[in-house]
Amino acid sequence: MRNINQLKDAKILVTGGLVFIGSNFILYLFDKFPNCKIINLDAEFVGSNKKNLKQVANKKKYQYVKGNINNKAKIEKLIQDCDVIFNFAAESHVDRSIDNPKPFFDSNIMGTYTILEAIRKFDKKLIHISTDEVFGSLKTGSATEKIAFNPSSPYAASKASAELLVNSYFVTYGIDSIITRCTNNYGPRQFPEKLIPKVILLASENNKIPIYGTGKNIRDWIYVLDHCDAILKVYQHGKKGSSYNIAGHNEIDNITIVKSILKIMGRSANLIKYVKDRPGHDLRYSLKTTKIKKEIGWKPKYTFEDGLRITINWYLNNRSWWQSISKNSMGRTK
Ligand SMILES: NC(=O)c1ccc[n+]([C@@H]2O[C@H](COP(=O)([O-])OP(=O)(O)OC[C@H]3O[C@@H](n4cnc5c(N)ncnc54)[C@H](O)[C@@H]3O)[C@@H](O)[C@H]2O)c1
Repeated sequence: MRNINQLKDAKILVTGGLVFIGSNFILYLFDKFPNCKIINLDAEFVGSNKKNLKQVANKKKYQYVKGNINNKAKIEKLIQDCDVIFNFAAESHVDRSIDNPKPFFDSNIMGTYTILEAIRKFDKKLIHISTDEVFGSLKTGSATEKIAFNPSSPYAASKASAELLVNSYFVTYGIDSIITRCTNNYGPRQFPEKLIPKVILLASENNKIPIYGTGKNIRDWIYVLDHCDAILKVYQHGKKGSSYNIAGHNEIDNITIVKSILKIMGRSANLIKYVKDRPGHDLRYSLKTTKIKKEIGWKPKYTFEDGLRITINWYLNNRSWWQSISKNSMGRTK
């Protein structure tokens, strides 16, 4: 077990910290360990926004570096200088991966390879952030850490490939790595190309809300701070070379989510508009989390109702954050 207190004055490299989960993770870490040093490396791709970290921007212990994880020289310099790397950087939107898969392979596969080479060269710890989408659609049951990958979209295939690379570097070179694999996150600072913020923003302006197909696709939803907490606990108690599933235990279909948001916001369900389904749209993802519960003692703290209310309030109270975002960059199904 790693001593969590090591983090209190550790040098931590977070990649991809300018948008959603990475920025929440940085704020979460500073909240827990105000004296740790965090370097945030981000390529400033879709949705990146320095305002997400304005609370810590002037903190001496925070350093922002603009750069791509594929930049070998930059990655080597940063990793050499750090104690641990949390790799969040990825192209993350399934729709964009269907329109143009190449950037997903560049960032998610080759970027992970570049990090892995530096990890083995300088013998550092890597916590690699992955997704439930690597297992593909499951009609029934839930995926354990042991079942075979079956990704459907180019995004999911790129994340599965990255996991295979991380595992191969553990088996072949003995690197100190752990993979975390989480279900759908929601919460503050998520770019509004994703379902929950998109629905909140459209509803707040009484715009039509597009729903793919029948809206019966099921995802498990986890509040982003529960995910951050799980990553930290995995860092502390996780076994080298292992992977851990993380879930919120809220399996809900899209139409139910949209109706819940409309109800909380006092908007009419008539705003819902069904649109042509996404190609290869997986029906259901589900993760079994017995391993993280047993080995690490982690479980989520937020109920879906509480997390959703906090999220809606955050977007309504931070209109300037999203009103400057171009409607075109929010995704094609508006
Ligand atoms: N959002 C979810 O529901 C979810 C669920 C499970 C796992 N994940 C994983 O968590 C991680 C973060 O997801 P997110 O939703 O915060 O994504 P996001 O798209 O909101 O943020 C990704 C960040 O990575 C940066 N980035 C992308 N490619 C880069 C590169 N080559 N070099 C440097 N920076 C780069 C982007 O600029 C952005 O700031 C991803 O690895 C994703 O696969 C996300």
